[in-house]
Amino acid sequence: MNQKHLGALIATKSIPIHDGERILVFNSGDGTLGLAMAERFPKSHFLLYESHVGMSNSLLRKLQSSSDFSNVRVISEDELARIPQTDNLLDVVVFEPRRFTALDLTRFQILAGKPLLKQGGRYYLVTHKRAGSSRHEKMLAELFGVDVRTVGKGRGGYKVLEAIKNSICSRSRQDFGVPETNEQIQMEWNPRRKVHFEIFDIEFDLESEPSLFSKDDLDLGTRILLENVNLSSFERMLDLGCGWGAIGLVAAVINKNGHVVLTDIESRAAKVASDNVQRLSLQDRVSVIATDDVRQIDGSFDLILSNPPFHADMVTLVNLFKAASDKLKKNGSIYVVVEKTYLSKLQKVLEQTFRHVKVYYEDMNTNFFVLISRK
Ligand SMILES: C[S@@+](CC[C@H](N)C(=O)[O-])C[C@H]1O[C@@H](n2cnc3c(N)ncnc32)[C@H](O)[C@@H]1O
Repeated sequence: MNQKHLGALIATKSIPIHDGERILVFNSGDGTLGLAMAERFPKSHFLLYESHVGMSNSLLRKLQSSSDFSNVRVISEDELARIPQTDNLLDVVVFEPRRFTALDLTRFQILAGKPLLKQGGRYYLVTHKRAGSSRHEKMLAELFGVDVRTVGKGRGGYKVLEAIKNSICSRSRQDFGVPETNEQIQMEWNPRRKVHFEIFDIEFDLESEPSLFSKDDLDLGTRILLENVNLSSFERMLDLGCGWGAIGLVAAVINKNGHVVLTDIESRAAKVASDNVQRLSLQDRVSVIATDDVRQIDGSFDLILSNPPFHADMVTLVNLFKAASDKLKKNGSIYVVVEKTYLSKLQKVLEQTFRHVKVYYEDMNTNFFVLISRK
């Protein structure tokens, strides 16, 4: 049995769920955990949220092809955000952080789930030793201001931790040295962070979040791409893998007549980028689309820019660029920035997609390269 299934098995066995309860499985991935729980507790209602549009779509397809999961609904970014504003708060949130997730991101993800719970609601963190279960336990205690209980244990150092929202507990929040109220916690740890940078003598004040690439600053590779490509004459440009929106937003500010579409496979990234579009009042000519298939975006582009997801495997990258190529107008250009370590990988990807690729710019000091392919 693989790790994913083991986690789901232990969680399903140890998390107590009562009939009629509303449960959110946060970052549900491909649904292994959420669907296992939904199957075991058919009289309860399961909401599954996943920020990765590709995984969320494959989960939707699974649900559509089965009649067994009438108690399951996949919810969008917007629906998730609306839950705290309704009277219909949740009884339970279940979250299994992905492996190798940075602690500050896990912290943000726990905090994002907490306001969705009603008073007395239960938060379950499914973790294991190598994922840092002891640090997770401390973090959960701190963020909820309560003692944390271990409700399940299993092979591979798996643990299921339980924290109850605003429960009367043996220890006060001061014991943990944390703020007293939920509002103070939110203020102390606001997931949004400022990104301030200057480029082309223009100052940008934008926002980012812990889950996003280069969350505190304009990435050096992104800067090199922006500073070396002609941004002044495109008609319609695509920012492929926009993150919090650096490339598309700078391009739109430089080219006041240009139309820009920003796209990312992470709906969280698209939400932050979209808020940044509003901050700069660019909504008339800039839009943001969360999708796992850029072919679904309307129209075509004369320019595509990307600081690509260089860690992705070859097949994923070739598929991404093939889809992007379908959106490129005849004689349109795509520019991709890449650090030396990934240069030959990206060259191969672009060669396979466009049949030719050239180094357009090489930055000797930083080892970043800008590649160009044309249609
Ligand atoms: C290296 S980051 C660059 C972010 C941003 N453009 C910047 O320069 O700061 C790559 C981005 O690509 C996104 N991504 C990964 N796979 C993708 C796909 N198949 N379609 C669209 N975006 C994708 C990631 O979520 C991530 O935000």
